[in-house]
Amino acid sequence: MEILNTAAALQVQTEIWRQQGQRIGLVPTMGALHEGHLQLVRAAARECEVVIASIFVNPTQFNNPDDFRLYPRLPEADAALLAPAGCTALFLPSVEEMYPRPTALHFDFGALERVMEGEHRPGHFNGVATVVSKLFHLSRPHRAYFGQKDFQQVAIVRQLVSDLSFDLTLVAFPTVREADGLAMSSRNRRLNAEARAAAPRLYEGLQLAERLVRAAQTEPAAVHTAVTDFLATVPGLELEYMAVVDAHSLQPLTNWWPGRPVALCLAAHLGGVRLIDNVVVDR
Ligand code: PAJ
Repeated sequence: MEILNTAAALQVQTEIWRQQGQRIGLVPTMGALHEGHLQLVRAAARECEVVIASIFVNPTQFNNPDDFRLYPRLPEADAALLAPAGCTALFLPSVEEMYPRPTALHFDFGALERVMEGEHRPGHFNGVATVVSKLFHLSRPHRAYFGQKDFQQVAIVRQLVSDLSFDLTLVAFPTVREADGLAMSSRNRRLNAEARAAAPRLYEGLQLAERLVRAAQTEPAAVHTAVTDFLATVPGLELEYMAVVDAHSLQPLTNWWPGRPVALCLAAHLGGVRLIDNVVVDR
């Protein structure tokens, strides 16, 4: 596996691969890799001759300086995991390399970003769209792999690809979970024992919501209440939001629409760590 540290090296290398007719798969990450990331890499390796993983803790998408400072950085361990998963090249740039001058670029995704993560983390998706656009330009992938774990991020990137005519296929990969249901996340490493023990309750809350949605006897507002009541019983868990939204528009639902999938999304704080999770219910 090659390690590329500069934008120029990445551009030169991807141009060569393109000229050789190789399909390029891109897996953008912020590192501290876990099985969820590695499954994206393996999926890319099944579908593309060349797999580029990027590791870049992107400062422009953090609205909380402590979260940025404390974000785990383990490039050597990550590199050792990527090669056996089928990664051809690791793009590992510095902040100066990605942002040679301060950026004031502004994206507006309208209603898509006025809810959930966009509402609670001002500027977050602006930073995501900025760095993802840069990564797409530099690596010109045929396919780009993102996890459903970040459900709203997938919706934003899908809109970005359409708005800026990126010539690529966006692949949304299902959420990979621990055996007890906790969605894998780089932030899970920061959970203390007590918080880690409570964390699977988040997915249990979402499964409860899923059962209620499938039964379709409960209004969206009552699903919301049932989950918030359930999570209120978990010691140390502070729910930031729980949203029952249309899976396409991401807008909150006041009633069910036949045939429209529903997304149940939440964010919560546990022992000082912010976690998100979601399930999508096809109806
Ligand atoms: P990061 O949180 O490192 O996640 C990288 C990719 O892995 C994202 O597409 C994310 O959705 C996916 N992923 C994370 N946990 C997963 C899980 N448990 N199951 C399946 N996929 C999972 O998301 C980002 O980085 C950044 O915002 C990024 C897109 C790299 C832009 O900076």
